[in-house]
Amino acid sequence: MSAKIIDGKAVAAKIKANLKLQIADLTSKGKTPGLAVVIVGDNPSSRKYVNMKKRACAELGVYSEEHSLSRDSTQSELLCLIDDLNQNPRIHGILVQLPLPSHLNEGQVIERIAPSKDVDGFHPISVGKLMIGIPGFISCTPAGVMELIKETGVSIEGKECVVIGRSNIVGKPQAILLLREHGTVTICHSRTPDLAACCRRADILIAAVGKPELIKGDMIKPGAVVIDVGTSVNAEGKLVGDVHFDSVSKVAGWLTPVPGGVGPMTIAMLMKNTVESALNF
Ligand code: GUN
Repeated sequence: MSAKIIDGKAVAAKIKANLKLQIADLTSKGKTPGLAVVIVGDNPSSRKYVNMKKRACAELGVYSEEHSLSRDSTQSELLCLIDDLNQNPRIHGILVQLPLPSHLNEGQVIERIAPSKDVDGFHPISVGKLMIGIPGFISCTPAGVMELIKETGVSIEGKECVVIGRSNIVGKPQAILLLREHGTVTICHSRTPDLAACCRRADILIAAVGKPELIKGDMIKPGAVVIDVGTSVNAEGKLVGDVHFDSVSKVAGWLTPVPGGVGPMTIAMLMKNTVESALNF
């Protein structure tokens, strides 16, 4: 069996094309969506992600501001900036790129963002709304994964869904989103004794663990939908996911590539949340 490849770049392009029309309409009404991106320090991965987000804003006609703070900025400087952005009427979304340098308190920073501008969906109020099933901002990567599953036409209802990884950004919200679609959901993590056995049960497998090529073909149920959230650099310096593409593609029914799978969807969902926020103001 050879898996069908889910083209995240194409799905994201479709979503962005629709958003572009919506943004033009909002702009013609004097309500251009605005996103503030905050970066602290010079982590090269964070820089790369921030540039990609700014590029997406420019491409779609979203107003964007970058606020670049030095690595040794204080907690109160960062909180002051967030307070200003919370009050700024041009800004509908505030994104603080994570991780922050270790001397800063990430939780307190996230909580300072006005929930109405929390386009990352990380604020406890956004997470709480997701948990109890009322509308709110949803973390972009798991929201993008849901769109990719939808693209396969495979129904989630009643299916065995296995999420590998329990981060606040991906694993936990992903599990709730799958549950909301009536999946039977298992979360696996570093203390799960038999990861392979758990994975083999999955009709839908989401790998979000950050270990290069951990998931091999013999851990996959034939025909499963496999979504690879990981991005790591392997021993040969190549960008790879959590999934060993060559072996898994021989067993799975559907598979996302890295790059070109989940990554482009995260940005598309960020743009979607920013437009949604502008509509709410
Ligand atoms: N760091 C890694 N992923 C993300 C994300 O989706 N949002 C923010 N703000 N930081 C991140």
